[in-house]
Amino acid sequence: MIKKLAPSILSADFARLGEEVNEVLEAGADIIHFDVMDNHYVPVLTFGPKICSDLRSFGVKAPIDVHLMAKPVDNLIEAFGSAGADYITFHPEASDHIDRSLRLIRQVGCKAGLVFNPGTSFDCLEYLIDQVDMILIMSVNPGYGGQEFISTTYKKIGDAKELITRLGKEVAIEVDGGINLANVADISSAGADIFVAGSAIFDSENYAETIAEFKTRLGG
Ligand code: DX5
Ligand code: ZN
Repeated sequence: MIKKLAPSILSADFARLGEEVNEVLEAGADIIHFDVMDNHYVPVLTFGPKICSDLRSFGVKAPIDVHLMAKPVDNLIEAFGSAGADYITFHPEASDHIDRSLRLIRQVGCKAGLVFNPGTSFDCLEYLIDQVDMILIMSVNPGYGGQEFISTTYKKIGDAKELITRLGKEVAIEVDGGINLANVADISSAGADIFVAGSAIFDSENYAETIAEFKTRLGG
């Protein structure tokens, strides 16, 4: 699978969000990652579906990847589906009916995925593999940008790769949290396909140079 870079707007300047998104896309970013937090599932509040529809009206055409750190999820799935999202992922702990929530994501026309916290196993995937297009492996505990990459994630990516191969499905593996220029090549070698980076990009001096370096290290 082609390696893709997904800057998280969590670390962008919200006062200039449209320009920030255009800047990282012009620099070569592939997907825009939304970290939606509700101050309930995680103790932080970020933004809702209007940001998605406004960025679409602003002219953003790139895929928008919505990571729901919220509970419950079904109403947000419907709202982000209508607002122009392409991918929607949620934490299995945040839905009372995981299979139904995954099917709802596809019903609203988006690709569906589950998000696995550092302490969460992939057990439910055994029964849900036909309902997922991607999985998101958290390499930090959800809620904050700028955290340290949790090193057990390398093994977890390998375990996910093995499980997906055994289940015989084409499922993209996305990794989120603490990704930077120093570790991205190793995360890629471990088997990841999509790389979420927030602070490593938006806290850098020059987005274009940083993204170009990410792509080089991803063999792009
Ligand atoms: C955690 C968020 C962060 C964010 C990336 O809930 O999901 O992982 O996307 O943040 P950085 O790249 O700054 O660790
Ligand atoms: Zn995220």
